[in-house]
Amino acid sequence: MTLNREHDIKNLELATGGRYRIEWAEREMPVLRAIRERFKAEKPLAGMRVSACLHVTTETANLMHTLQVGGADVVLCASNPLSTQDDVAASLVTDYEIPVYAIKGEDNEIYYDHIKAALDHQPHITMDDGADLVSTIHKTRRELLEGIVGGTEETTTGVIRLRAMAKDGALEFPVIAVNDSNTKHLFDNRYGTGQSTLDGVIRATNLLIAGRTIVVAGYGWCSRGIADRARGLGGNVVVTEVDPLRALEALMDGFRVMPMAEAARVGDIFITATGDINVLDVHHFEVMKPGALVANSGHFNVEINLKGLTEIAEGAPKLVRPYVEEYRVGGKPLYVLGEGRLINLAAAEGHPASVMDMSFANQALAAEYMVKNHADLSSNVYTIPLAIDNEIARLKLESMGIAIDTLTDEQAHYLSQWEEGT
Ligand code: ADE
Repeated sequence: MTLNREHDIKNLELATGGRYRIEWAEREMPVLRAIRERFKAEKPLAGMRVSACLHVTTETANLMHTLQVGGADVVLCASNPLSTQDDVAASLVTDYEIPVYAIKGEDNEIYYDHIKAALDHQPHITMDDGADLVSTIHKTRRELLEGIVGGTEETTTGVIRLRAMAKDGALEFPVIAVNDSNTKHLFDNRYGTGQSTLDGVIRATNLLIAGRTIVVAGYGWCSRGIADRARGLGGNVVVTEVDPLRALEALMDGFRVMPMAEAARVGDIFITATGDINVLDVHHFEVMKPGALVANSGHFNVEINLKGLTEIAEGAPKLVRPYVEEYRVGGKPLYVLGEGRLINLAAAEGHPASVMDMSFANQALAAEYMVKNHADLSSNVYTIPLAIDNEIARLKLESMGIAIDTLTDEQAHYLSQWEEGT
């Protein structure tokens, strides 16, 4: 296949529907809209080439447009082969004149061709969700390092990869870990992943959650969101963990906690969101109940050992409905949702715009911060300043019409001294 260098998307004719959906999402993104208004006047990203590798969704389109309005010259590729919304890609190319390299269902080779195409833009700033741009630049496109002022990273998995690079002394430009902002992980990871993951499982299967045993692997911000929403739908939720503190939290939050080897025998639906490999492995598949379903909501498709499952399965998997593949193991059916890729973006539309509003406000402000401050930053992983994080929370509350109290002078003084007691 030859890549179209101007863009590589499924079908330009999908643009109108994509534009309507981008505008629909925009209504739910007041904080990003306010930043866009300021960017329009101040042009803080003027002259900056930005290569973004993000899920190509309606919310991402609004971020891309904001960066563009801020003066940036933007290109976008997908951060996952299954997460692209083809109508959004078409609208970005047609209506916003932003080059996009992303097709839903692209294979691994095309996925990396698209990353390469986005890097041919010779970015000053990289914007990643999973660190694929940063790792590709450091491994195979080192000639680009010279021109890069810095990067931003959206997700937990990407931040873990970047911190590993920084620890090894391998990272060669500063990166802002957007995921570390409170207004990102406390909302996007918890409420966004919680709702969109259940949405993905339900859209893929149309199964009733109530009365079923849902096994959630992990109790980080994403998995606790999933566990909460599964319980809210009437699921009987089991949590598995390797971290004693998180396991204790899960227990005291009212969930059953047990090792996966035990949970594998009782679960009806398994959802992984740990960031680690082979969380569901062959010895788990072997003891699962007939008809058990497995899905992943972690960034990479490594949490379910699909290779192992394929090896023990009888015959080839059968696609029984979109995003649902049946494997037969020891005569029993097991179902894998969304090829083990992020189920919330593969089978649904990812997090709702209202929560991406804060995540992408962080991205836009992180890009601006990088442009202004890169000369003072070294090749390390940084968190956005707390004042910016708090301002995003303030703007979000304001947009929702919620007022809060402020400390009186007397109260502020009390908190700043140590003499006064009982
Ligand atoms: N990650 C999770 N949900 C998303 C969305 N709606 N857009 C972009 N990235 C996401």
